[in-house]
Amino acid sequence: MTETLFHAPDEFRNNAWIKNMDEYQTLYQESVEDPDTFWARMADNFYWDKKWDKVREYNYHLSKGPISIQWFINGKTNICYNCLDRHLPERKDQTALIWEGNSEGEDLTITYGQLHEKVCRFANALKEKGVVKGDRVAIYMPMIPELAATMLACARIGAIHSIVFGGFSAEALADRIEDSLCKVLVTTDGVMRGAKAVPLKTAADRALTLCEERGHQVQTCFVVKRTGSDIPMKADRDVWWHEAADAQSPECPVEWMDAEDPLFILYTSGSTGKPKGVQHNVGGYMVYAGTTFKYVFDYHDGDIYWCTADIGWVTGHSYIVYGPLSQGATSVMFEGVPTYPDPGRFWATVDKWKVNQFYTAPTAIRALMAQGEKWVEKYDLSSLRLLGSVGEPINPEAWRWYHTHVGKGRCPIVDTWWQTETGGIMISPLPYAIDQKPGSATLPFFGIQPVLLNEQGEELAGACDGILAIKEPWPGQMRTVYNDHDRFGKVYFQMFDGYYFAGDGCRRDEDGYFWITGRVDDVINVSGHRMGTAEVESALVSHPQVAEAAVIGYPHDIKGQGIYAFVTLNVSATPSPELLKELKAHVREEIGPIATPDIINFAPGLPKTRSGKIMRRILRKIATNEYDQLGDISTLADSDVVGNLITSHKALL
Ligand code: PRX
Repeated sequence: MTETLFHAPDEFRNNAWIKNMDEYQTLYQESVEDPDTFWARMADNFYWDKKWDKVREYNYHLSKGPISIQWFINGKTNICYNCLDRHLPERKDQTALIWEGNSEGEDLTITYGQLHEKVCRFANALKEKGVVKGDRVAIYMPMIPELAATMLACARIGAIHSIVFGGFSAEALADRIEDSLCKVLVTTDGVMRGAKAVPLKTAADRALTLCEERGHQVQTCFVVKRTGSDIPMKADRDVWWHEAADAQSPECPVEWMDAEDPLFILYTSGSTGKPKGVQHNVGGYMVYAGTTFKYVFDYHDGDIYWCTADIGWVTGHSYIVYGPLSQGATSVMFEGVPTYPDPGRFWATVDKWKVNQFYTAPTAIRALMAQGEKWVEKYDLSSLRLLGSVGEPINPEAWRWYHTHVGKGRCPIVDTWWQTETGGIMISPLPYAIDQKPGSATLPFFGIQPVLLNEQGEELAGACDGILAIKEPWPGQMRTVYNDHDRFGKVYFQMFDGYYFAGDGCRRDEDGYFWITGRVDDVINVSGHRMGTAEVESALVSHPQVAEAAVIGYPHDIKGQGIYAFVTLNVSATPSPELLKELKAHVREEIGPIATPDIINFAPGLPKTRSGKIMRRILRKIATNEYDQLGDISTLADSDVVGNLITSHKALL
């Protein structure tokens, strides 16, 4: 296959941190041959209250004992100090966050000095409620400045934050609060969505009741006033965020943290079981998020940078808050959606704030592409110098549209491959050094050693297809599954001894460029949101009329993947449009709107092996109408099932 190579114009290249391939290769070589020296130099760009004794120590072989990964051993630092205090002498009056609200015209700029004060006040409020180092604080909020302030306040005093995306349901929130036994919840009265105010406190209340019923009591619930809707406040538990913060001192000493103390937990889906609490620790995460931010987005002083992600996902943690602020950047935080009040909102916002780096997801690009170029052409996008993509493979057609119509052919695109578990960007072009090919994440970041393995775990050489794994640790790597270190080892290191197993398939071309081909496990990616098929299945079977369910991802024009559920009902139940609606509502209730199945096929039976394992390979082929490519079905316990499924699938078309 020949792919077009794109390179950035010289006017950008001359000022870049990494200007050409030689510079990249020299640094990359050093970073993998002498990681201690390389990462010590990167860590020196941060403030340490006490320097580390040793850069790293690890065991990557489950066969030799439990997995352990440590960076900057015995170093003491604080990420909030690095994001705020250390910038105050020269950046007190510089904008740290630009908040662009849901409605046009509703915005706010917050300087480093103001953010520092807000964070200190809320940190003191947390302390007053008895929150101490190591306590867990759940955060369930929309994209408002208090969200960033709450995270930083936790980090300042050493509390571990666990942010739950505001689109998750009360049940999903309760599960997460309970798993890590959070002492406090921080939420809002409501959320603005398009022209409507949507309640959030009701879901938060329900989650807290569920926790109580299961024996876990959240002591304090801070509520930010966002929509002003009338909500019940429970005496002795609920407190207004602004009242609590305003009553406190604007100064709060930082808690010096060990580099390996936990910073946050973020739940993410895997192929089996409940979502895992991915735990990131202070020192390594800070160094990795900050360093990748600087180089991948080629951030320079004075630039206006915008990442459109929600802070409820890792992208928002690393590339709206911690990465940018640790580098003294000005970071845009957007509350709204790309299509409100119209599909020109992103571009109007780029024009309004003169954004230089813009980072979004392929699903948003595809959705906006479908609305036509006229929305892009209305605005002056000449401030843009770089575009970014994250969350799922970007199809070359969307890449080209983004490059041509948004970047006007001038801006490099950084297609960044990484995961909640990796803490920061792993494979991506360095924008002015590595030429791009549409659809490829190109080459690894400094210190990252990706390899492609075959099923036997042997490293493949040259141009090939394989399973993506990473050799040797990097500072931003997750350290454990919260409260379940065994699961950490099993999920990520059992498959291939000595390697971090990423769960993605990948192709390497003759230039050594990496092309992510999608998950090799039962995880699907719906509009850049990661979902375990098992979670959706378990939500479906918890409905009294469902006997069995199998869920798969299928190609979807806008979302990347859609959710297709094959559902077998109990003998007493009959399929009906009402039941279909009810099942969708049930999944929304159990997990959240992002998990709603796009298609439900009431299947009389599912294809299973004689040992009872559902053959998803067959279901995937049926969903994509490839009836003649079902492969070997001789191992099926009941071969009639397949014919029935094809008939019911065709009836849905
Ligand atoms: O399958 C890969 C896909 O998203 C997964 C990670 O999802 P999550 O932990 O939610 O983090 C998303 C944001 C970092 C990966 O295993 N993925 C992410 N970025 C890309 C991607 N697939 C292809 N290209 C990407 N740039």
